[in-house]
Amino acid sequence: MTVPSPLPMDVAGVTVAVVGPEVAGAVVAIIHAAFGERPVLDPPSTALTESEASVADALARHGGLLARRDGRPVGALLLGVAEESLLLRRVSVVPEAQGTGVATALADAAAEVARARGLRRVHLTARTELPGTIGFWAGLGYREVGRAGALLTLAKELAVECEVATADQMRTLGQRVAGLLRAGDLIICTGHLGAGKTTFTQGIGAGLGVRGDVTSPTFVISRVHPSRHGSPPLVHADAYRLGGLAELDDLDLDVSLEDSVTVVEWGEGLAEPLAEDRLEVTITRSRGASADGERRTVRLDPVGARWVGSDLAAAVT
Ligand SMILES: Nc1ncnc2c1ncn2[C@@H]1O[C@H](COP(=O)(O)OP(=O)(O)OP(=O)(O)O)[C@@H](O)[C@H]1O
Ligand SMILES: [Mg+2]
Repeated sequence: MTVPSPLPMDVAGVTVAVVGPEVAGAVVAIIHAAFGERPVLDPPSTALTESEASVADALARHGGLLARRDGRPVGALLLGVAEESLLLRRVSVVPEAQGTGVATALADAAAEVARARGLRRVHLTARTELPGTIGFWAGLGYREVGRAGALLTLAKELAVECEVATADQMRTLGQRVAGLLRAGDLIICTGHLGAGKTTFTQGIGAGLGVRGDVTSPTFVISRVHPSRHGSPPLVHADAYRLGGLAELDDLDLDVSLEDSVTVVEWGEGLAEPLAEDRLEVTITRSRGASADGERRTVRLDPVGARWVGSDLAAAVT
């Protein structure tokens, strides 16, 4: 696992810091300004009943995040913790700074805090009457995982990273990830030429117990590897050689993607429409000490409700 970058973070000219009760006055002012602007809901949000004392109390327990631009407080949220997950409450941006990247900066910082605290996911609640809010979080990979009346719970599983020194280790990683996979899963592999995408896919094939060697599908659009035991078949496609992945669904496959595990190399920006939920695997190479003088870092970024609760961290440790 990589060491999380420490806060404060600077994103789009916004500095976000973890704060405690000493700034409760500023935080409650931001909450009141942000929620005062929103349409009145039924039942109304309780955010406007927050006082400096109630906010100080929440900040003393789990802390919060305060976003500043040019030194001026422009956004804030309160933190909580429930079941290995970091809870974001009262996510607030002052009206004059809305739409300028403050909420994104807060969300990025929250993910860093969750990682630093050893948590696996981030969640929050949102009202169904506020589709813009839900859309904002969906754009960051948050998905609905629960619903109680008009209150949705949105969650995102955190990405995990590890260093992989050898091709064998890359296969082992793929094999471990395969243990988490089920029919219908989509894996999008990204990384430069020779990064190890096919090697990783070989591990997935081994984990699923598929027939046939998993090789680079250079001169074919994709290959289907049936499983020798009860696991789903592996569909392995390479969008780079295709010069674009028009519609994998249109390919003349004798299996359906819902019944298969699909791995698309070079699929970034192309294969996403195939499934709302996916596992994004990004392999980066840099100079470093390993067998071939290169260091490879693999990032597993789960997108969508399908992955909430899955133990990706176990695959990389
Ligand atoms: N740590 C490592 N992980 C993966 N592959 C490694 C590693 N170290 C060395 N290798 C070698 O690097 C090569 C990686 O090739 P591979 O075909 O998996 O990459 P790729 O990303 O699929 O490439 P392409 O972009 O051509 O599809 C293999 O020959 C593999 O043995
Ligand atoms: Mg390849």
